[in-house]
Amino acid sequence: GTVVLAYSGGLDTSCILVWLKEQGYDVVAYLANIGQKEDFEAARKKALALGAKKVYIEDVCREFVEEFIWPAVQANAVYEDRYLLGTALARPCIARGLVEVARKEGAQHVAHGATGKGNDQVRFELTCYALCPSIKVVAPWRLPEFYQRFPGRRELMDYAQKHGIPVPVTPQTPWSMDENLMHISYEAGILENPKNPAPPGLYTKTCDPATSPDTPDVLEIEFEKGVPVKVTNVGDGAVRRSALELFMYLNDIAGKHGVGRIDIVENRFVGMKSRGIYETPAGTILYHAHLDIEAFTMDREVRKIKQGLSLKFSELVYNGFWHSPEGEFLRHCIARSQQAVAGTVRLSVFKGHVSILGRASPCSLYNEELVSMNVQGDYEPADATGFININSLRLKEYHRLQSKVTAK
Ligand code: ARG
Ligand code: SIN
Repeated sequence: GTVVLAYSGGLDTSCILVWLKEQGYDVVAYLANIGQKEDFEAARKKALALGAKKVYIEDVCREFVEEFIWPAVQANAVYEDRYLLGTALARPCIARGLVEVARKEGAQHVAHGATGKGNDQVRFELTCYALCPSIKVVAPWRLPEFYQRFPGRRELMDYAQKHGIPVPVTPQTPWSMDENLMHISYEAGILENPKNPAPPGLYTKTCDPATSPDTPDVLEIEFEKGVPVKVTNVGDGAVRRSALELFMYLNDIAGKHGVGRIDIVENRFVGMKSRGIYETPAGTILYHAHLDIEAFTMDREVRKIKQGLSLKFSELVYNGFWHSPEGEFLRHCIARSQQAVAGTVRLSVFKGHVSILGRASPCSLYNEELVSMNVQGDYEPADATGFININSLRLKEYHRLQSKVTAK
């Protein structure tokens, strides 16, 4: 039968392509352009040369921003307080494209090159099963006949040599990378020792803040319904409006100033801790800007509830449940919370930091007169006495009991 392989153009999935053919499959290669730096035409030629029956190269960048990154921005999605979920958001987008091709090709099988120890296998497969319940997944890195044959890189290289698979000419980095429009991750290899700092030259999307420009870029980001719709550079007047354009522009600006780097140990869904280094340039600017405009426009109690939803949302995205009943429900609730999250945030991007400078909004709940130290506004200071008295009741009772207990 036919199998549609999530192909990256790299050594692993090239070997998998040939191996699948050896197992008797017709192989269709699916390569999503999700913003990674890649020579797509070279990858197409390579897959065809290796015997792929057909190659699909699909540009999913715009869908990735509008349908996956924007809901994450609305949610202020962040996993374990630090990770902005760049890979986790991309997987369901890629897997959706993969099953669509399987449908078109009448293929019963899809295959991917994720390892058996990671999150990506879970994300790919949960998406495939959710969108096409009858699909069968081939995960070579979980098949003993595959991983026993390829216990290390050496064996993959030998296999490649033998089957005319072009091996990378540039020396391999001693870590693995996964890149898309939102971020790049570095894991494994020499990074597996969590004590080792990122070696110089590892970072690819952001400059070193130590040598980044000595003048900030000041931006104004306008939001509607919790989503950025316009970015203006106050310095040179540059304006970007469409989702993809403005996201790429923010990537450039943040990259130039070294914004968006993190080095963390996180908990994988399958149970182990892993060390990862990430660069999320535009995502980091938008995270700070959105938090600010949301705080300015959202009711306090709604915000508290939404914070809880955001935590759930981040966890389910990380774990691969984008296409799930709870995922749909949370995205619906979060989108509803964003109806009046609108206005403009001014911020500076400088030396690895995003600093908020100010905000303005037609939907703001901020009342300058109400909060002012100089104006009375619609507020009676004398009322606060009763408010505090009633609230102190419980504290006084508690203290009375405490002193009784300790006296004994
Ligand atoms: N640890 C991150 C995550 O689980 C990044 C995974 C990177 N994936 C990869 N195939 N290198 O989202
Ligand atoms: C992999 O195992 O394929 C990469 C790491 C991960 O998925 O968490």
